[in-house]
Amino acid sequence: MSRRAASVSDYRPLAKARLPHFLFEYIDGGSYDEVTLRRNVEDLQAIALRQRVLRDVSNLDLTAKLFGKRWAMPVGLGPVGLSGLYARRGEVQAARAAAAANVPMILSTVSACSLHEVAASGHVPWYQLYFVKDRGFVADLIARARDEGCGALVLTVDLAVPGSRYRDARAAGSGLQRMPNLLSRPAWLWDVAIRGRPISFGNLEPIVGKRAPLADFQKWIHDNFDASVSWKDVAWVREQWKGPLIVKGILDPDDAREALANGADGIVVSNHGGRQLDGALSSARALPSIVAAVGGKIPVLADGGVRSGLDVVRMLALGADFVLLGRAWAYALAARGEAGVAHVLSLIEAEMRVAMALTGCTTIGEIDQSVLDRR
Ligand code: GLV
Repeated sequence: MSRRAASVSDYRPLAKARLPHFLFEYIDGGSYDEVTLRRNVEDLQAIALRQRVLRDVSNLDLTAKLFGKRWAMPVGLGPVGLSGLYARRGEVQAARAAAAANVPMILSTVSACSLHEVAASGHVPWYQLYFVKDRGFVADLIARARDEGCGALVLTVDLAVPGSRYRDARAAGSGLQRMPNLLSRPAWLWDVAIRGRPISFGNLEPIVGKRAPLADFQKWIHDNFDASVSWKDVAWVREQWKGPLIVKGILDPDDAREALANGADGIVVSNHGGRQLDGALSSARALPSIVAAVGGKIPVLADGGVRSGLDVVRMLALGADFVLLGRAWAYALAARGEAGVAHVLSLIEAEMRVAMALTGCTTIGEIDQSVLDRR
């Protein structure tokens, strides 16, 4: 296997070779039969774009505005749980790469590095919030995001109950059972498990403790995520958070309207990377009707299956204003740390340039339905 990645997808086997089996399965896997996981990729790849020629594409402008800031391109690093374990202090490395590329990064509630640690590196991420039963703790997380100066709060609403991920179940095992596999991953052991200490669940430390093993943490998620959560809770968050509030995990036009009615400043069309309701529509299929329901009143972000700059252009053509990467950056972080994430962002940008030039679009605003080839 080549050790050099030429494309975003090349990072997946490199991540597989470097990570302990259970961690690779955690990023790579989806729920149940992984139907939605596959659909995300396949439906996006099936979108054909209209090739246009002789339109003077010598000057391309990829920049895009979102929540008062102009970004280098309409692309961000979406929240990925436990990414701090893919490389040493992994979320800090990813935040550095995002800041250098001038794209936003969203830090997961279930990160290894705390929000404070990431923000102290000088690159303040947006913050992703989960509802747990202890609302006092949720209020505390919101206050921390405010105190650190996070530019947006991203409320994930599609995890009222966790989807069953059979690959996680198969890969689970006690420390002793994992030992042979861990020993076959010496680069990861040295980089993350030894030099990357202390390993904890940064933002959750006050409730899961400083040295919680992964199994305790997964049990904690199972026991503490709140199935009673409803739109009233979104309104509750809205009262406490004055900055941009993005609701992530919308897959239905009616829910998009509800988000709008409850004060969301943006939504993310997402099926959680195929990790929750298996058999749900892919993001690419769900996107156009949601964009129509929102009617341009708030920005629509989308994730799910994006593995190239061409895929970003496809999402934009389907109506997204901004696109989030998940596994695409997580694999690269696992394989090569900050440099890998920086490389993925540069690949995405270069691929977007080619896709824009050959569809005759010189600005992001020009990428719309007219770019779709429906023949
Ligand atoms: C957490 O958000 C997960 O999908 O594992």
